[in-house]
Amino acid sequence: MTRKTGDLSRLWHFGFAVVLLFVSILAGGVQAWSKEGHTMTCRIAQDLLESEAAHAVKNLLPDNVDGDLSALCVWPDQVRHWYKYRWSSPLHFIDTPDGACSFDYHRDCHDQHGNEDQCVAGAIQNFTSQLRHYREGTSDRRYNLTEALIFLSHLMGDIHQPMHVGFTTDQGGNTINLRWFSHKSNLHHVWDREILLTAMKDYYEKDMDLLLQDIRGNFTDGIWSDDVSSWTDCDSLHACVTKYATESINIACKWGYKGVKPGDTLADEYFNSRLPFVMKRIAQGGVRLAMILNKVFHHGHAAMAAT
Ligand SMILES: *[C@@H]1O[C@H](CO)[C@@H](O)[C@H](O)[C@H]1NC(C)=O
Ligand SMILES: *[C@@H]1O[C@H](CO)[C@@H](O)[C@H](O)[C@H]1NC(C)=O
Ligand SMILES: *[C@@H]1O[C@H](CO)[C@@H](O)[C@H](O)[C@H]1NC(C)=O
Ligand SMILES: [Zn+2]
Repeated sequence: MTRKTGDLSRLWHFGFAVVLLFVSILAGGVQAWSKEGHTMTCRIAQDLLESEAAHAVKNLLPDNVDGDLSALCVWPDQVRHWYKYRWSSPLHFIDTPDGACSFDYHRDCHDQHGNEDQCVAGAIQNFTSQLRHYREGTSDRRYNLTEALIFLSHLMGDIHQPMHVGFTTDQGGNTINLRWFSHKSNLHHVWDREILLTAMKDYYEKDMDLLLQDIRGNFTDGIWSDDVSSWTDCDSLHACVTKYATESINIACKWGYKGVKPGDTLADEYFNSRLPFVMKRIAQGGVRLAMILNKVFHHGHAAMAAT
């Protein structure tokens, strides 16, 4: 869940807290890759940073996380309902037309009022271009580059969660209530968290380090190692984010929504066939976040075109 008791107490500082609270309940559990998904994406990425990027990331992180990017990778979900960060709430997902099974940047990347670029694909470009202003030892007053780094790292996870590029009416599966084995859930949450938690419990002794080791093994010398160079292949950041979002909606259609009706019980068959996609999306999010950070912080950093 993205709403935490701490967030709520903050809201009370504002006069219209009750209204906001009500609106956020109505907006109903619009969730995100779980804590575990974001943490793993960021740990995979940080491990793949070249020295300049590794240095810049450490330099931008606040002291209390001891150089660990993953410690802050869920933060954008925790603040999205705070008054100060309300602007960020449309930046975690993309609503595509019901049944279209495609992503078109100009058609789909906007918030509910039609403001262009207000979606996860636009936001990744936004925070990446802010980070291009990074110079060690100077502080840019236009942007908070610590926040830009954290948002970028989080949103690279979100754009890879297939149901974050879902249909408009069902809010990326959030309104499709069903059962995951014996407990109540919804289709969005199945992809955010349930599949991952069931896998950790059944196959990895609930140990994220074991799972991460397995994921890394599979892209360095395993099922994805021939594929991994194509993951980072795209001509511009705009082309990259378009590719990631397109992959997500394709998986959402073929594997997320397919055959699922409200009230269904999803169990072993769904779990076993979808698990490989969840793992691959976490791996791709991490590898690609590292690629972007390595380019952005590379000396002279003209490597990645701005458009
Ligand atoms: C870009 O980031 C700024 C905060 O630095 C924010 O106000 C703006 O809404 C963001 N736009 C997008 C498209 O992410
Ligand atoms: C940047 O954002 C972080 C996290 O919200 C905050 O702790 C820090 O004070 C901000 N820095 C500036 C210069 O505003
Ligand atoms: C890694 O690949 C093996 C097959 O070689 C597979 O059984 C395993 O589930 C994969 N693990 C992950 C986390 O992708
Ligand atoms: Zn999110």
